[in-house]
Amino acid sequence: STIGYEAWLRYPQLTDVLRIEAVSRWSGCMIVTEASEVIATAAAELKRGLERMLGVTLAARSSCDSGSGCIAIGTFSGGNESIARVFGDSGAQLDTGAEGFAIRTDAESGIIAIGAEQPAGVLYGVFHLLRLIATGASIDELDIVERPVNTIRMINQWDNIDGSVERGYAGQSIFYENNTIKSDLTRVEDYARLLASSGLNAIAINNVNVHHHETYFITERFLPDIARIAGIFRRYAIKLFLSVNYASPIETGELTTADPLDADVKAWWKAKADELYKVIPDFGGFLVKADSENRPGPFTYGRDHADGSNMLAEALLPHGGLVIWRCFVYNCKQDWRDRKTDRARAAYDHFKPLDGRFMDNVILQIKNGPMDFQVREPVSPLFGALPATNCMMEFQIAQEYTGQARHLCYLVPQWKEVLDFDTYAKGEGSYVKQVVDGSMFGYKHSGFAAVSNIGDNANWTGHPLTQANLYGYGRLAWNPELSAAAIAEEWTRLTFGSDEHVVSTVVSLLMGSWSIYESYTAPLGVGWMVSPNHHYGPDVDGYEYSKWGTYHFSDCKGMGVDRTLATGTGYAGQYREPNASIYGTLESCPDELLLFFHHVPYTHVLHSGKTVIQHIYDTHFEGVEQAEQMLRSWNELEGRIDTETFKLAGDRFAEQAEHAKEWRDRINTYYLRKSGISDALDRTIY
Ligand code: GCU
Repeated sequence: STIGYEAWLRYPQLTDVLRIEAVSRWSGCMIVTEASEVIATAAAELKRGLERMLGVTLAARSSCDSGSGCIAIGTFSGGNESIARVFGDSGAQLDTGAEGFAIRTDAESGIIAIGAEQPAGVLYGVFHLLRLIATGASIDELDIVERPVNTIRMINQWDNIDGSVERGYAGQSIFYENNTIKSDLTRVEDYARLLASSGLNAIAINNVNVHHHETYFITERFLPDIARIAGIFRRYAIKLFLSVNYASPIETGELTTADPLDADVKAWWKAKADELYKVIPDFGGFLVKADSENRPGPFTYGRDHADGSNMLAEALLPHGGLVIWRCFVYNCKQDWRDRKTDRARAAYDHFKPLDGRFMDNVILQIKNGPMDFQVREPVSPLFGALPATNCMMEFQIAQEYTGQARHLCYLVPQWKEVLDFDTYAKGEGSYVKQVVDGSMFGYKHSGFAAVSNIGDNANWTGHPLTQANLYGYGRLAWNPELSAAAIAEEWTRLTFGSDEHVVSTVVSLLMGSWSIYESYTAPLGVGWMVSPNHHYGPDVDGYEYSKWGTYHFSDCKGMGVDRTLATGTGYAGQYREPNASIYGTLESCPDELLLFFHHVPYTHVLHSGKTVIQHIYDTHFEGVEQAEQMLRSWNELEGRIDTETFKLAGDRFAEQAEHAKEWRDRINTYYLRKSGISDALDRTIY
């Protein structure tokens, strides 16, 4: 089956007669004069979308005399007369920037014009117009100027050449199989469409853990195929990046060291860069996981992350390439008996002292939280702490710790909270979103990256509704001011059409899902109660005596991690005031993060008025009820959604409700046994 394959680009035929008339009035022809690849893509998308929705053929012309009801697309200076007529000289003054666009309905000339500085903007403008039509907006009086808030809007594939996807829950890779790059890349092209239509413009196509074969991606063995992939993404204005192995010079057998200060190593990478740019002239650059979870890096040679990344940056600089260097660096061989080492502190401790030492074409990619994509974490204190170093955000769409592709967990609300967090870096109102869009410190490069959630499942994401996370990520990277609910509604209308019962049900399912997931899993910000390795399902002590720095310290009296300055690991002190005091003080710490920052007795009373233990019991019972309610709400949509999607999502909601019980009972039972305190409502705990 191919249901779900077209995701939010289905463009079902319009059925309302008035609506068809209203759109048809502007769809007499398409006026396009430019020949660039990306404009050709834009024209093809416009044609396809309109033809689907209207059931007509859309002729492409280079001019239109009839003077009524056409759509013109092009760059302001590209010689398209209709664009010039509608925008006049003002085109250039519209401030659309390198990737923005303007859409204007010009009643006089009978033209809807989509104009931009660059072809990429034209493509985004076309997708925008199609989105307006598909979601039922009027196009009679458009006067829109849009430009993306973030310059880098990137996807990270964690795909391996053997066809597996690290933390992938929707099948195998669409890029690779059997240690080769697939010969048929149709699916990659369709993925490029999905990404571009949600506003994304960059992709790293291989796992940050670069294994043996992938190390050769930057050699002649793979470069022709990599160039083929780059060519596909280029047509959608998406730049290609590669994850590289820091020890490449050694791994390929060419050198005996990867020391960044070694002259041969520098020369090796320079030659590599030259070779790469010969094949892919617009290559984006390298994504690097170094000295992290057993990956090689500069530490081996007594060098730091600035030395390490600058060496690569120097090699890429003449070609305009970037080094995206990840900050996910911590001691992954910790002794659980050691109460001083705190993984949460690690990124800040490593990178803060290096601020200002990185070259201009290096960007530090920082995970949203200090640990690892848990359902609830505080915001990484590195945001706002590096005024002299380019930084970007790393989110994870894949839901590794948030139910994978089985449970629904719409993450846009979580990401919004992160982006709206006040760092106080330049006084009150210094939000994370202004750090990562580059405006707060005038970064040269910055933006968003996120780990993808797609695989070769027919519907890309496994769970039909988690397509919303991919779409939502793109839309949020374009404009962090969009609300989570607005994005959810947009996605739902594009995906399922405009049956209002469907729209309101799906939107409320999405909007409630994060908090429901949180309520039946690890409580109050403590995290990590998942099964080791695969990270699906409950195991309260699964990571308690491990080397990964992931503990909750539950005993017979209480639980939580003391990260205060006064008596704990001092992590709370990495924030600027007033955050440091708010988190560091028991009385002011927000309930949802209490156990991240404090070790408290089970009888500690939360701001909500409940004790910690009663909160655990209550939220876990409620969470299951809500998960069951999700299943019931979904089931009410029977007959309103295609049967296959209905069944597929229905099965997942059923699994989620069942699995939520397992979470509830494991956690409640564990804490009843530890604390000896019974549930005030005397519900069944085992
Ligand atoms: C997590 C995840 C790993 C991944 C790592 C990373 O720890 O479980 O699979 O490699 O993050 O972001 O590098």
